[in-house]
Amino acid sequence: MTEVIVVGSPREAGELVAGAILRLVSDRPDAVLGLATGSTPLPVYEALRPHARALARVRGFALDEYVGLPAGHTESYRAVIDREVVGPLGLDPARVRVPGDDIAAESARLGGGPAADELALATAGDRYEQALAAAGGVDLQLLGIGATGHIGFNEPGSSFASLTRVKTLTERTRRDNARFFASPDEVPQHCITQGLGTILRARHLVLLAFGAAKSDAVAGAVEGAVTSSLPASAIQLHPHATVVVDAAAASRLRFLDYYRQAWAHKPAWQQI
Ligand code: F6R
Repeated sequence: MTEVIVVGSPREAGELVAGAILRLVSDRPDAVLGLATGSTPLPVYEALRPHARALARVRGFALDEYVGLPAGHTESYRAVIDREVVGPLGLDPARVRVPGDDIAAESARLGGGPAADELALATAGDRYEQALAAAGGVDLQLLGIGATGHIGFNEPGSSFASLTRVKTLTERTRRDNARFFASPDEVPQHCITQGLGTILRARHLVLLAFGAAKSDAVAGAVEGAVTSSLPASAIQLHPHATVVVDAAAASRLRFLDYYRQAWAHKPAWQQI
């Protein structure tokens, strides 16, 4: 089942999830983390900071990246991951991948120019999937959720079997993410994102959501129909999915009392 844990604050969520990551890493120091960007996972990364030494050998794979931003743009997810995760947690940058981060090198290998760039982009998803497989897959995947119900940048209509590929962002998502850019027009139309099929292969999914603006998407994901119209509902197909929400994000859940009861009485040995 999807376990729902209602916490008092994003900070509490960060501590809880950081604890799960540290337990994983103490068993397997080179564990593979699936990294999300955006605002939601920040409390997790903050809670991990004092434990950076334990994370030195961790490997990471980001969920998604914009397509079409100038190289080195401060809001590219490569830049965000470097600034918010790799640097503060002392991860080895060579062990942290972001979809499409090899496009320039691949294009150069193909001889460069627009046709090589295009081919390098078109095949970037396959190379990312190969890198994920070579790493042995993701142990723990952090997820946020968009107002459209996206996870990664899998917008409504995404196949549950989809793998890493180029997608078009909805106008709603472009508007929501405009806060990170100087103007809404600067938000790219396209992205490269792990697919729902890719995400479902991770061994443990941890979806976080805070605030009332996420409450409809959370209720749909956890209790609604399993449908590609609400891509996050794919988590219901996963044998080990944990949803960590504050009271506002949980406010539209029908079985909220039960989730609270189950968490309050959860045997300590079970962990999350
Ligand atoms: C980011 C990602 C997205 C975000 C979602 C929520 O890597 O994959 O699915 O998690 O758009 O964004 P925030 O957390 O900024 O509300």
